[in-house]
Amino acid sequence: MAKITLKQYLDSTASPDDLKELIQLIAAQGPAIRNAFITNQKYADTQNIYGETQMKLDIWSNEHLKQVLKKSKLVKELASEEEAEVLSFPDAKSNYAVTMDPLDGSSLIQVNLAVGTIIGIYDNGKVMQPGKNMRAAMYILYGPLTTLTVTVKEGIYMFALNDKNEFTMTDQNVKIGDKKLYGTGALQKDWVPKHKKFINEIVKDGFKLRYSGSFVADVHQFLKYGGVFSYPLYKGHMGGKLRLLFEANPLGFIVTQAGGKVSTGEKNILTIMPEKVDHRVPIYIGTKKYVERAEKIIKG
Ligand code: AHG
Ligand code: MN
Ligand code: MN
Repeated sequence: MAKITLKQYLDSTASPDDLKELIQLIAAQGPAIRNAFITNQKYADTQNIYGETQMKLDIWSNEHLKQVLKKSKLVKELASEEEAEVLSFPDAKSNYAVTMDPLDGSSLIQVNLAVGTIIGIYDNGKVMQPGKNMRAAMYILYGPLTTLTVTVKEGIYMFALNDKNEFTMTDQNVKIGDKKLYGTGALQKDWVPKHKKFINEIVKDGFKLRYSGSFVADVHQFLKYGGVFSYPLYKGHMGGKLRLLFEANPLGFIVTQAGGKVSTGEKNILTIMPEKVDHRVPIYIGTKKYVERAEKIIKG
């Protein structure tokens, strides 16, 4: 039997036509970004608003997606991890607002490990709002295969790019697993005692370490197998490292749709009203009962 394509899947959902169009347009950029890996392997001389050195591919992917989304007339507002300000496209015909991390895990490009593009979609024209208001979220993961995970608030579906540059379905209605895996960021010497306590506890309980340096790849693994990813607040960075709009919210929304949970350790990340574009949050994300275990210790 022929495999279900992304288009066929979207047509089977209650999504409005312009949302289906937007998701397919973003998906269609996966092959283009993947191809650019071959020609964009050097560091650029510029820094993004967080003071990190950008890889050329960060810039390229950002510019590429920005142009495509602007031209589509589907997007009123666009916020990107690589842009200091929210961009508005007043002549858009649809009312979508998009957040994007054009390339997540970019420090791994030069060592050929999995990186991804993370997208959040709101349908009321504004990017500055709590993640729970999202209409859809997706990520493209560039690994040995190029895969796409999407939710239009009707569960989680996964697709893989075939040799005809079509995404065909590999996983339907994904529910998060409960394997005892964990990954956690920041230097251990900078962890606060509560985070240390949580990690010590789960390690004692037999959790196995899996951490790559690419949030989207790590979360993808835990989404399929189960586990808990954390990037805690840490000494000198009491707000955490990962970005609410671009990383925490879209993947938090997807994990939540799969029956998992996303938390700062104290509250549901999806309820936070962003204070600025580059708002950061400490994050615990993954299998519900493991995130709740972190919350018990962090709140306690
Ligand atoms: P980006 O490549 O978009 O800047 O994001 C990097 C993020 C995230 O993907 C990852 O989990 C984390 O930073 C890795 O940080 P460390 O290098 O501190 O482990
Ligand atoms: Mn990122
Ligand atoms: Mn990035």
